[in-house]
Amino acid sequence: ANKTVGIFVGSLRKDSFNKKIANYLVSITPEGYTFKIIEIGQLAFYNQDFDDEGTAPENYATFREEVKALDAVLFVTPEYNRSVPAVLKNAIDVASRPYGKSVWDKKPGAVISSSIGGIGGFGANHHLRKSLVFVNVPTMAQPEMYCGNIADSFDKEGKLTNKETEKFFKGFLEAYVKWVETFVK
Ligand code: FNR
Repeated sequence: ANKTVGIFVGSLRKDSFNKKIANYLVSITPEGYTFKIIEIGQLAFYNQDFDDEGTAPENYATFREEVKALDAVLFVTPEYNRSVPAVLKNAIDVASRPYGKSVWDKKPGAVISSSIGGIGGFGANHHLRKSLVFVNVPTMAQPEMYCGNIADSFDKEGKLTNKETEKFFKGFLEAYVKWVETFVK
């Protein structure tokens, strides 16, 4: 059956390089898959009172349903101060609750990080993996994807022009599809 992968982008910026990566991945969606970018910027900061008192914003339920319906997840994120941007961590927190009702559970995943600097978002990538362990998202170990100097990979129109980067993304997706298919038949 067709499998749906949700892509979560850790930047809300309109000219975000991570959004460009996500859009590029959508443009090369493997056969038999649907890749869709899941919006996270609309989610209020998680407050457990919402769930304890039944006062959660309506879009929490919508978001949780959206994540629940996915076969697999893919995170594309920048690094903020050597860690995961708050907006992405918040999305993980929202969909991990109410307690016992996490919608991340057992969905195979992978992480791509990028930076305009040389370290490629390594710190964010690995902090994100810690949270994914706890919410029980089996996360692909290899190939790792730390995209450094990302500004050099795209032209002004947002088109991926770096052939090396393109090759890495294609290899990454091949491995990701195999990973997903060991969990989702
Ligand atoms: C950054 N940036 C950054 N880069 C990095 O390699 N390590 C870091 O710790 C940080 N910290 C950081 C904090 C904050 C608050 C911002 C706004 C930025 C720079 C970052 O790589 C750059 O802004 C990217 O362009 C962000 O990704 P998007 O928005 O282009 O997807």
